[in-house]
Amino acid sequence: MKSIKELSLEGKKVLVRVDFNVPLDEHQNITDDTRIREVLPTLRYILDHRGLLVIMSHMGRPKAKRVDELSLAPVAKRLGRLLGHEVELAPDCIGEETEKMVRDMDENKVILLENLRFHSGEEKNDPEFAAKLAALGDVYINDAFAVSHRAHASVERIVKYFTEAAAGFLLLKELEYFKEAMENPRRPLAAIIGGAKVSGKFGALENLLSRVNKLIIGGAMANSFLKSMGFDLGRSRVEDDLVEAAGRLRERAIKEGIKFYLPVDVVVAPEPDPKAETKIVPVQEIPEDWMALDIGPATSRLFDEALYNAKTIIWNGPMGMFEIDAFSRGTVSMVYSVADSYALSIVGGGDTDVAIHSTGQTDRISYISTGGGAFLQLLEGKPLPGVKALGGMDTG
Ligand code: 3PG
Repeated sequence: MKSIKELSLEGKKVLVRVDFNVPLDEHQNITDDTRIREVLPTLRYILDHRGLLVIMSHMGRPKAKRVDELSLAPVAKRLGRLLGHEVELAPDCIGEETEKMVRDMDENKVILLENLRFHSGEEKNDPEFAAKLAALGDVYINDAFAVSHRAHASVERIVKYFTEAAAGFLLLKELEYFKEAMENPRRPLAAIIGGAKVSGKFGALENLLSRVNKLIIGGAMANSFLKSMGFDLGRSRVEDDLVEAAGRLRERAIKEGIKFYLPVDVVVAPEPDPKAETKIVPVQEIPEDWMALDIGPATSRLFDEALYNAKTIIWNGPMGMFEIDAFSRGTVSMVYSVADSYALSIVGGGDTDVAIHSTGQTDRISYISTGGGAFLQLLEGKPLPGVKALGGMDTG
Protein backbone atom coordinates (compact mmCIF):
# COMPACT_ATOMS: atom_id res chain seq x y z
CA MET A 1 0.00 0.00 0.00
CA LYS A 2 1.35 3.36 -1.03
CA SER A 3 1.75 6.21 1.39
CA ILE A 4 0.63 9.71 0.53
CA LYS A 5 4.32 10.65 0.64
CA GLU A 6 4.93 8.64 -2.52
CA LEU A 7 2.53 10.68 -4.64
CA SER A 8 3.22 13.93 -6.40
CA LEU A 9 0.44 16.31 -5.47
CA GLU A 10 1.40 19.67 -6.84
CA GLY A 11 -1.34 21.26 -8.91
CA LYS A 12 -3.48 18.11 -8.68
CA LYS A 13 -6.97 17.77 -7.31
CA VAL A 14 -6.55 15.47 -4.34
CA LEU A 15 -9.75 13.65 -3.41
CA VAL A 16 -9.48 12.58 0.23
CA ARG A 17 -11.89 10.22 1.99
CA VAL A 18 -11.98 10.97 5.70
CA ASP A 19 -14.32 9.91 8.50
CA PHE A 20 -15.92 13.07 9.86
CA ASN A 21 -18.74 11.09 11.44
CA VAL A 22 -18.41 13.09 14.65
CA PRO A 23 -20.90 13.24 17.52
CA LEU A 24 -23.35 16.17 17.41
CA ASP A 25 -25.70 17.47 20.12
CA GLU A 26 -29.35 18.35 19.45
CA HIS A 27 -28.32 21.77 18.07
CA GLN A 28 -25.80 20.22 15.64
CA ASN A 29 -22.83 21.33 17.73
CA ILE A 30 -19.85 19.03 17.49
CA THR A 31 -19.24 17.51 20.92
CA ASP A 32 -15.95 15.79 20.08
CA ASP A 33 -13.78 16.82 17.12
CA THR A 34 -11.03 14.21 17.56
CA ARG A 35 -11.76 12.66 14.17
CA ILE A 36 -11.30 16.05 12.49
CA ARG A 37 -8.09 16.86 14.36
CA GLU A 38 -6.62 13.44 13.60
CA VAL A 39 -6.64 13.98 9.82
CA LEU A 40 -5.17 17.47 9.93
CA PRO A 41 -1.61 16.21 9.27
CA THR A 42 -2.77 14.67 5.99
CA LEU A 43 -4.81 17.71 4.95
CA ARG A 44 -1.98 20.11 5.82
CA TYR A 45 0.51 17.95 3.96
CA ILE A 46 -1.62 18.16 0.83
CA LEU A 47 -1.94 21.95 1.10
CA ASP A 48 1.78 22.34 1.84
CA HIS A 49 2.53 20.34 -1.32
CA ARG A 50 0.23 22.62 -3.28
CA GLY A 51 -2.49 20.07 -3.95
CA LEU A 52 -6.10 21.18 -4.34
CA LEU A 53 -8.08 19.64 -1.55
CA VAL A 54 -11.45 18.00 -2.15
CA ILE A 55 -12.65 16.18 0.96
CA MET A 56 -15.45 13.65 1.28
CA SER A 57 -17.08 12.01 4.28
CA HIS A 58 -20.26 10.47 5.57
CA MET A 59 -22.14 11.55 8.67
CA GLY A 60 -24.52 9.26 10.54
CA ARG A 61 -26.92 6.94 8.78
CA PRO A 62 -29.34 9.07 6.72
CA LYS A 63 -30.52 6.02 4.75
CA ALA A 64 -29.93 7.37 1.25
CA LYS A 65 -31.90 10.59 1.55
CA ARG A 66 -31.12 14.18 2.42
CA VAL A 67 -31.43 14.75 6.18
CA ASP A 68 -30.60 18.33 7.17
CA GLU A 69 -29.55 17.33 10.69
CA LEU A 70 -26.85 15.14 9.13
CA SER A 71 -25.36 17.83 6.91
CA LEU A 72 -21.61 18.29 7.12
CA ALA A 73 -22.11 22.07 7.56
CA PRO A 74 -20.92 22.12 11.22
CA VAL A 75 -17.87 20.10 10.20
CA ALA A 76 -16.98 22.53 7.40
CA LYS A 77 -16.99 25.35 9.92
CA ARG A 78 -14.90 23.53 12.52
CA LEU A 79 -12.48 22.23 9.90
CA GLY A 80 -11.98 25.74 8.53
CA ARG A 81 -11.06 26.97 11.97
CA LEU A 82 -8.70 24.07 12.71
CA LEU A 83 -7.07 24.21 9.30
CA GLY A 84 -6.81 28.00 9.23
CA HIS A 85 -8.19 27.88 5.72
CA GLU A 86 -11.54 28.67 4.16
CA VAL A 87 -13.56 25.49 3.69
CA GLU A 88 -16.50 25.61 1.33
CA LEU A 89 -19.26 23.04 1.70
CA ALA A 90 -20.48 21.76 -1.68
CA PRO A 91 -24.27 21.48 -2.00
CA ASP A 92 -23.95 17.75 -2.70
CA CYS A 93 -21.21 15.19 -3.21
CA ILE A 94 -22.04 14.71 -6.90
CA GLY A 95 -23.98 16.67 -9.54
CA GLU A 96 -23.44 19.60 -11.85
CA GLU A 97 -23.12 22.34 -9.26
CA THR A 98 -20.50 20.42 -7.31
CA GLU A 99 -18.61 19.48 -10.47
CA LYS A 100 -18.48 23.14 -11.45
CA MET A 101 -17.27 24.17 -8.00
CA VAL A 102 -14.45 21.65 -8.17
CA ARG A 103 -13.62 22.56 -11.78
CA ASP A 104 -13.31 26.24 -10.91
CA MET A 105 -11.46 25.84 -7.61
CA ASP A 106 -8.00 27.22 -6.96
CA GLU A 107 -5.37 26.78 -4.27
CA ASN A 108 -7.12 29.20 -1.94
CA LYS A 109 -10.11 27.01 -1.59
CA VAL A 110 -10.75 23.74 0.22
CA ILE A 111 -13.95 21.95 -0.74
CA LEU A 112 -15.84 19.59 1.53
CA LEU A 113 -18.44 17.51 -0.31
CA GLU A 114 -21.82 17.08 1.37
CA ASN A 115 -22.65 13.81 3.16
CA LEU A 116 -21.94 10.83 0.89
CA ARG A 117 -24.70 8.76 2.47
CA PHE A 118 -27.41 11.07 1.14
CA HIS A 119 -27.05 8.84 -1.94
CA SER A 120 -27.86 5.13 -2.03
CA GLY A 121 -24.83 4.50 -4.28
CA GLU A 122 -22.43 5.03 -1.39
CA GLU A 123 -23.45 2.10 0.79
CA LYS A 124 -24.27 -0.05 -2.25
CA ASN A 125 -20.68 0.33 -3.43
CA ASP A 126 -22.21 1.37 -6.74
CA PRO A 127 -19.69 1.67 -9.61
CA GLU A 128 -21.56 4.53 -11.30
CA PHE A 129 -21.66 6.58 -8.10
CA ALA A 130 -17.99 5.78 -7.44
CA ALA A 131 -17.08 6.92 -10.95
CA LYS A 132 -18.87 10.25 -10.42
CA LEU A 133 -16.97 10.83 -7.20
CA ALA A 134 -13.70 9.78 -8.80
CA ALA A 135 -14.20 12.36 -11.57
CA LEU A 136 -13.72 15.06 -8.90
CA GLY A 137 -10.06 14.21 -8.28
CA ASP A 138 -6.79 13.42 -10.03
CA VAL A 139 -5.45 11.34 -7.16
CA TYR A 140 -7.19 9.54 -4.30
CA ILE A 141 -6.25 9.33 -0.63
CA ASN A 142 -7.97 7.19 1.97
CA ASP A 143 -7.47 8.58 5.45
CA ALA A 144 -10.69 7.19 6.83
CA PHE A 145 -9.61 4.27 9.01
CA ALA A 146 -12.87 4.33 10.97
CA VAL A 147 -14.96 3.49 7.90
CA SER A 148 -12.45 1.33 6.05
CA HIS A 149 -14.28 -1.81 7.21
CA ARG A 150 -17.17 -0.80 4.96
CA ALA A 151 -17.04 -1.80 1.29
CA HIS A 152 -18.65 1.48 0.29
CA ALA A 153 -18.24 3.38 -2.98
CA SER A 154 -15.99 6.16 -1.65
CA VAL A 155 -13.87 3.68 0.30
CA GLU A 156 -13.59 0.61 -1.90
CA ARG A 157 -14.99 0.83 -5.44
CA ILE A 158 -13.57 4.28 -6.10
CA VAL A 159 -9.97 3.06 -6.00
CA LYS A 160 -10.47 1.26 -9.32
CA TYR A 161 -10.90 4.61 -11.09
CA PHE A 162 -7.51 6.00 -10.11
CA THR A 163 -4.02 5.23 -11.29
CA GLU A 164 -2.69 6.99 -8.24
CA ALA A 165 -4.15 6.13 -4.84
CA ALA A 166 -2.58 5.99 -1.41
CA ALA A 167 -3.15 5.92 2.34
CA GLY A 168 -3.08 9.06 4.45
CA PHE A 169 -1.12 9.45 7.67
CA LEU A 170 -3.95 8.52 10.04
CA LEU A 171 -4.77 5.28 8.23
CA LEU A 172 -1.08 4.36 8.21
CA LYS A 173 -0.68 5.19 11.90
CA GLU A 174 -3.75 3.18 12.95
CA LEU A 175 -2.54 0.10 11.08
CA GLU A 176 0.96 0.44 12.40
CA TYR A 177 -0.12 0.58 16.05
CA PHE A 178 -2.43 -2.33 15.55
CA LYS A 179 0.33 -4.35 13.95
CA GLU A 180 2.70 -3.58 16.76
CA ALA A 181 0.17 -4.80 19.31
CA MET A 182 -1.01 -7.90 17.50
CA GLU A 183 1.70 -9.23 15.24
CA ASN A 184 4.86 -9.13 17.23
CA PRO A 185 3.86 -7.77 20.62
CA ARG A 186 5.99 -7.42 23.68
CA ARG A 187 4.59 -10.03 26.05
CA PRO A 188 2.60 -10.66 28.12
CA LEU A 189 -0.11 -9.38 25.76
CA ALA A 190 -3.39 -8.76 27.57
CA ALA A 191 -6.72 -8.10 25.85
CA ILE A 192 -9.60 -6.55 27.74
CA ILE A 193 -12.93 -7.06 26.02
CA GLY A 194 -16.12 -5.57 27.38
CA GLY A 195 -19.43 -4.24 26.15
CA ALA A 196 -23.00 -5.38 26.18
CA LYS A 197 -23.10 -8.25 23.74
CA VAL A 198 -20.91 -11.27 23.34
CA SER A 199 -22.51 -11.94 19.94
CA GLY A 200 -20.86 -8.91 18.32
CA LYS A 201 -17.45 -9.81 19.69
CA PHE A 202 -17.29 -13.56 19.42
CA GLY A 203 -15.15 -13.45 16.28
CA ALA A 204 -12.73 -11.09 17.98
CA LEU A 205 -12.50 -13.32 21.06
CA GLU A 206 -11.80 -16.37 18.93
CA ASN A 207 -9.07 -14.58 17.00
CA LEU A 208 -7.54 -13.20 20.18
CA LEU A 209 -7.24 -16.69 21.65
CA SER A 210 -4.43 -17.51 19.27
CA ARG A 211 -2.53 -14.33 20.13
CA VAL A 212 -2.93 -13.17 23.72
CA ASN A 213 -1.49 -14.35 27.01
CA LYS A 214 -4.29 -12.93 29.11
CA LEU A 215 -7.95 -12.39 28.29
CA ILE A 216 -10.04 -10.19 30.55
CA ILE A 217 -13.79 -10.12 30.03
CA GLY A 218 -16.06 -7.48 31.53
CA GLY A 219 -19.35 -5.75 30.78
CA ALA A 220 -22.66 -7.52 30.23
CA MET A 221 -20.97 -9.90 27.81
CA ALA A 222 -19.26 -11.52 30.80
CA ASN A 223 -22.70 -12.72 31.93
CA SER A 224 -22.91 -15.36 29.22
CA PHE A 225 -19.55 -16.76 30.36
CA LEU A 226 -20.62 -16.72 34.02
CA LYS A 227 -23.85 -18.47 33.13
CA SER A 228 -21.91 -21.19 31.31
CA MET A 229 -20.13 -21.84 34.62
CA GLY A 230 -23.45 -22.39 36.35
CA PHE A 231 -23.89 -19.05 38.10
CA ASP A 232 -27.38 -17.71 38.52
CA LEU A 233 -27.44 -14.26 36.95
CA GLY A 234 -30.91 -13.13 38.12
CA ARG A 235 -32.40 -10.76 35.55
CA SER A 236 -29.02 -9.80 34.08
CA ARG A 237 -28.66 -9.62 30.33
CA VAL A 238 -27.56 -13.04 29.06
CA GLU A 239 -27.45 -14.23 25.46
CA ASP A 240 -28.82 -17.70 26.10
CA ASP A 241 -28.05 -18.99 22.63
CA LEU A 242 -24.37 -18.21 23.15
CA VAL A 243 -23.89 -19.58 26.64
CA GLU A 244 -22.63 -22.94 25.41
CA ALA A 245 -20.25 -21.37 22.89
CA ALA A 246 -18.97 -19.02 25.59
CA GLY A 247 -18.27 -22.01 27.82
CA ARG A 248 -16.35 -23.74 25.02
CA LEU A 249 -14.32 -20.63 24.34
CA ARG A 250 -13.39 -20.36 28.01
CA GLU A 251 -12.37 -24.01 28.13
CA ARG A 252 -10.27 -23.62 24.99
CA ALA A 253 -8.54 -20.59 26.48
CA ILE A 254 -7.67 -22.42 29.66
CA LYS A 255 -6.49 -25.51 27.73
CA GLU A 256 -4.20 -23.31 25.66
CA GLY A 257 -2.67 -21.79 28.76
CA ILE A 258 -4.29 -18.38 28.41
CA LYS A 259 -5.01 -16.66 31.69
CA PHE A 260 -8.74 -16.06 31.55
CA TYR A 261 -10.37 -13.49 33.85
CA LEU A 262 -14.05 -12.95 34.57
CA PRO A 263 -15.78 -10.73 37.14
CA VAL A 264 -15.86 -12.08 40.69
CA ASP A 265 -18.26 -9.44 41.99
CA VAL A 266 -20.75 -7.09 40.34
CA VAL A 267 -22.82 -3.98 40.98
CA VAL A 268 -26.48 -4.97 40.82
CA ALA A 269 -29.74 -3.02 40.68
CA PRO A 270 -33.37 -3.92 40.02
CA GLU A 271 -33.30 -1.72 36.88
CA PRO A 272 -30.70 0.06 34.74
CA ASP A 273 -31.91 3.34 36.19
CA PRO A 274 -29.80 6.22 37.60
CA LYS A 275 -32.06 6.37 40.66
CA ALA A 276 -32.23 2.64 41.31
CA GLU A 277 -31.01 1.14 44.55
CA THR A 278 -27.67 -0.61 44.03
CA LYS A 279 -25.51 -3.09 45.88
CA ILE A 280 -22.28 -4.95 45.37
CA VAL A 281 -22.48 -8.73 45.48
CA PRO A 282 -20.23 -11.68 44.64
CA VAL A 283 -21.22 -13.32 41.33
CA GLN A 284 -22.43 -16.29 43.40
CA GLU A 285 -25.05 -14.10 45.11
CA ILE A 286 -26.86 -12.09 42.43
CA PRO A 287 -30.44 -11.66 43.73
CA GLU A 288 -33.14 -13.26 41.63
CA ASP A 289 -34.84 -10.03 40.49
CA TRP A 290 -31.71 -7.90 40.10
CA MET A 291 -29.35 -7.25 37.21
CA ALA A 292 -25.55 -7.06 37.05
CA LEU A 293 -24.74 -3.63 35.55
CA ASP A 294 -21.07 -3.08 36.36
CA ILE A 295 -18.08 -4.99 37.64
CA GLY A 296 -17.51 -4.67 41.38
CA PRO A 297 -14.47 -3.36 43.30
CA ALA A 298 -12.96 -6.82 43.89
CA THR A 299 -13.08 -7.42 40.14
CA SER A 300 -11.46 -4.05 39.42
CA ARG A 301 -8.67 -5.01 41.77
CA LEU A 302 -8.31 -8.44 40.17
CA PHE A 303 -8.20 -6.98 36.65
CA ASP A 304 -5.72 -4.34 37.79
CA GLU A 305 -3.42 -7.02 39.19
CA ALA A 306 -3.79 -9.08 36.01
CA LEU A 307 -2.58 -6.08 34.00
CA TYR A 308 0.32 -5.38 36.31
CA ASN A 309 3.02 -7.21 34.34
CA ALA A 310 1.47 -6.81 30.87
CA LYS A 311 3.76 -5.27 28.27
CA THR A 312 1.05 -4.81 25.67
CA ILE A 313 -2.63 -4.10 26.33
CA ILE A 314 -5.50 -4.01 23.85
CA TRP A 315 -8.83 -2.76 25.16
CA ASN A 316 -12.25 -2.66 23.53
CA GLY A 317 -15.58 -2.18 25.32
CA PRO A 318 -16.70 -0.79 28.71
CA MET A 319 -16.92 -2.83 31.91
CA GLY A 320 -20.51 -1.86 32.66
CA MET A 321 -23.30 0.55 31.79
CA PHE A 322 -20.92 3.43 32.29
CA GLU A 323 -23.22 6.09 30.78
CA ILE A 324 -25.11 5.89 34.10
CA ASP A 325 -22.92 7.22 36.94
CA ALA A 326 -23.93 4.50 39.38
CA PHE A 327 -22.57 1.85 36.99
CA SER A 328 -19.52 3.66 35.68
CA ARG A 329 -16.94 2.90 38.36
CA GLY A 330 -15.70 -0.35 36.89
CA THR A 331 -14.96 1.29 33.54
CA VAL A 332 -13.36 4.34 35.14
CA SER A 333 -11.20 2.11 37.29
CA MET A 334 -10.14 0.19 34.17
CA VAL A 335 -9.16 3.48 32.48
CA TYR A 336 -6.79 4.15 35.39
CA SER A 337 -5.43 0.59 35.40
CA VAL A 338 -4.57 0.90 31.69
CA ALA A 339 -3.29 4.49 32.03
CA ASP A 340 -1.10 3.60 35.03
CA SER A 341 0.43 0.62 33.28
CA TYR A 342 3.85 0.78 31.59
CA ALA A 343 2.56 -1.35 28.72
CA LEU A 344 1.99 -0.22 25.16
CA SER A 345 -1.76 0.39 25.43
CA ILE A 346 -4.08 0.49 22.45
CA VAL A 347 -7.73 1.26 22.89
CA GLY A 348 -10.48 1.20 20.30
CA GLY A 349 -14.26 1.51 20.18
CA GLY A 350 -16.55 4.49 20.59
CA ASP A 351 -17.70 3.80 24.16
CA THR A 352 -14.25 3.01 25.45
CA ASP A 353 -13.00 6.16 23.82
CA VAL A 354 -15.72 8.25 25.51
CA ALA A 355 -14.84 6.71 28.89
CA ILE A 356 -11.17 7.64 28.49
CA HIS A 357 -11.98 11.18 27.38
CA SER A 358 -14.37 11.69 30.28
CA THR A 359 -11.66 10.79 32.79
CA GLY A 360 -9.09 13.07 31.15
CA GLN A 361 -6.60 10.22 30.76
CA THR A 362 -6.16 10.39 26.98
CA ASP A 363 -2.49 11.39 27.12
CA ARG A 364 -1.64 8.42 29.33
CA ILE A 365 -2.83 5.84 26.80
CA SER A 366 -0.32 4.95 24.07
CA TYR A 367 -2.86 5.03 21.26
CA ILE A 368 -6.60 5.63 21.04
CA SER A 369 -8.01 4.45 17.75
CA THR A 370 -10.55 6.58 15.89
CA GLY A 371 -12.28 3.36 14.83
CA GLY A 372 -15.15 1.44 16.39
CA GLY A 373 -16.33 -1.18 13.93
CA ALA A 374 -13.07 -0.98 11.98
CA PHE A 375 -11.03 -1.66 15.12
CA LEU A 376 -13.23 -4.62 15.99
CA GLN A 377 -12.86 -6.03 12.49
CA LEU A 378 -9.09 -5.91 12.88
CA LEU A 379 -9.45 -7.69 16.23
CA GLU A 380 -11.40 -10.37 14.36
CA GLY A 381 -8.41 -10.82 12.09
CA LYS A 382 -10.36 -9.77 9.01
CA PRO A 383 -8.86 -7.42 6.42
CA LEU A 384 -10.50 -4.03 5.88
CA PRO A 385 -11.99 -3.57 2.36
CA GLY A 386 -10.70 0.01 2.19
CA VAL A 387 -7.16 -1.11 2.96
CA LYS A 388 -7.39 -4.12 0.67
CA ALA A 389 -8.51 -1.89 -2.21
CA LEU A 390 -5.30 0.10 -1.82
CA GLY A 391 -3.31 -3.13 -1.98
CA GLY A 392 -2.74 -2.92 1.75
CA MET A 393 -1.44 -5.50 4.12
CA ASP A 394 -3.48 -8.26 5.59
CA THR A 395 -3.54 -7.39 9.24
CA GLY A 396 -5.21 -10.65 10.19
C1 3PG B 1 -18.07 4.79 12.85
O1 3PG B 1 -18.48 5.76 13.50
O2 3PG B 1 -17.77 3.70 13.38
C2 3PG B 1 -17.82 4.97 11.38
O3 3PG B 1 -18.03 6.28 11.00
C3 3PG B 1 -18.66 4.00 10.57
O4 3PG B 1 -20.01 4.29 10.70
P1 3PG B 1 -21.10 3.19 10.34
O5 3PG B 1 -21.07 2.17 11.42
O6 3PG B 1 -22.41 3.96 10.28
O7 3PG B 1 -20.73 2.60 9.01
